[in-house]
Amino acid sequence: MESQRLDKIIASTGRFSRREVKLLARQGRILLDGRAVRDTAEKADPESAEILVDGEPLCYRRCTWVMLHKPAGYLSATEDGRGPTVLDLLPAELRRQGLFPVGRLDKDTEGLLLLTNDGQLAHDLLSPRHHVDKVYYVRTAGRLTEADCAAFEAGMTLADGLRCLPAGLEILTAGEESEALVTLREGKFHQIKRMLGQLGKPVLYLKRLRMGNLTLDPALEKGKYRFLTDKEQDQLKNF
Ligand code: URA
Repeated sequence: MESQRLDKIIASTGRFSRREVKLLARQGRILLDGRAVRDTAEKADPESAEILVDGEPLCYRRCTWVMLHKPAGYLSATEDGRGPTVLDLLPAELRRQGLFPVGRLDKDTEGLLLLTNDGQLAHDLLSPRHHVDKVYYVRTAGRLTEADCAAFEAGMTLADGLRCLPAGLEILTAGEESEALVTLREGKFHQIKRMLGQLGKPVLYLKRLRMGNLTLDPALEKGKYRFLTDKEQDQLKNF
């Protein structure tokens, strides 16, 4: 792989900012192939060099994966003249890495959104042949019933003829307003809103909690992001 500046390599793991990397170097805490590095502009091949920070090998990844707790009001796009995008929630350093959202949530939907610059894996995860379970918390107007659950389970056909795969609807509370967990195995445009709208229970609030084997980190506040851990990145391969 092409050589890159050490500060860029180390900061790309998400554990340190470039400013922190400089400080670590000044304190002699970064070793490149066995020698302390003071100048973080020095270049190395991140895949073949041995880089230690405080004695720990740096776990370098070619691609970056980020989990974002998307708030309402942001578009799942990299650029859009119609308003702020989820990229606006990331620092400039990350935006420069060419991250894009893996799939879409509606502007008013909150919750788990992955961003990456790993085009190949993102493409595989999004492929319509790859049925990844996605779990949403939903609040609706009107009382959800067992008949609604049965309609979800049977696979609904929407007013425009669109056929949906069987989906899960687990009622949490039912009343004038209801709460439920919805599990989809696909991601059609406004799918949950359209399914529940057709059953006469319009969506008031929607939040994605889980995608495949990845759950929204409960410690992640709305609008905040964190890097996926090494374990989570490995989990993506069995999504
Ligand atoms: N279904 C919807 O209607 N909206 C979303 O954002 C996701 C699923």
